[in-house]
Amino acid sequence: MTARESRTEFWDARYREDDTPWEKGYGAPPLAEYLERSSFKGRVLVPGCGFGHDVRLLAQYGAQPLGLDISPTALARARSFKPVAEEDYLRGDLFTLDVSLKESFEGIFEHTCLCAVDPSRRPEYAQAVADALKSEGELLAIFFVKIEDPEGPPYPISSDEIDRLFHPFFDTVEHWVPGKSFPGREGREQMRRMRKR
Ligand SMILES: C[S@@+](CC[C@H](N)C(=O)[O-])C[C@H]1O[C@@H](n2cnc3c(N)ncnc32)[C@H](O)[C@@H]1O
Repeated sequence: MTARESRTEFWDARYREDDTPWEKGYGAPPLAEYLERSSFKGRVLVPGCGFGHDVRLLAQYGAQPLGLDISPTALARARSFKPVAEEDYLRGDLFTLDVSLKESFEGIFEHTCLCAVDPSRRPEYAQAVADALKSEGELLAIFFVKIEDPEGPPYPISSDEIDRLFHPFFDTVEHWVPGKSFPGREGREQMRRMRKR
């Protein structure tokens, strides 16, 4: 089995076995809070979208989001929801994005995908999201900065590491601690809005 197949099998088995503690049944409160005050329009990629709650939330606020996930089970469930507007879903691996998707998004929304990726692959993650965005495209991210359990996934990330990984491609436009979070995640998340140079 290749590394890619085993990654797909790991995540798909979690969905098939209903072992999905991250699945909350609705879009991320920090995203909803952001969309109430700012628009996030155009084509927006949502890597590791799972059941697609964030995708549909973005669509509700006028974006044209594309939810990407390696798990066919997660995507079948995402597609089973009533469409909101212009959302779409694609089965694929962020690390091997088709060339047709390069430099094709105005925005990317990161939520619980980076923290699910092995930390050794974070530089590849930063490169992949930079490659997918158009020039001056924006990455809006909810980062997990505090997780008590050292055994990931999820794996936490520090502010210094965020700077180190993303600042070669992006400038940080804004950062803040969300006022609203899923129960149990309060004070553990940090938001960043970064613009690709
Ligand atoms: C912790 S889950 C979070 C799902 C969703 N964002 C949520 O909050 O409900 C991580 C997701 O990332 C997906 N994933 C992991 N590695 C991926 C990759 N390389 N490319 C695309 N999706 C990936 C998994 O299949 C899984 O759905």
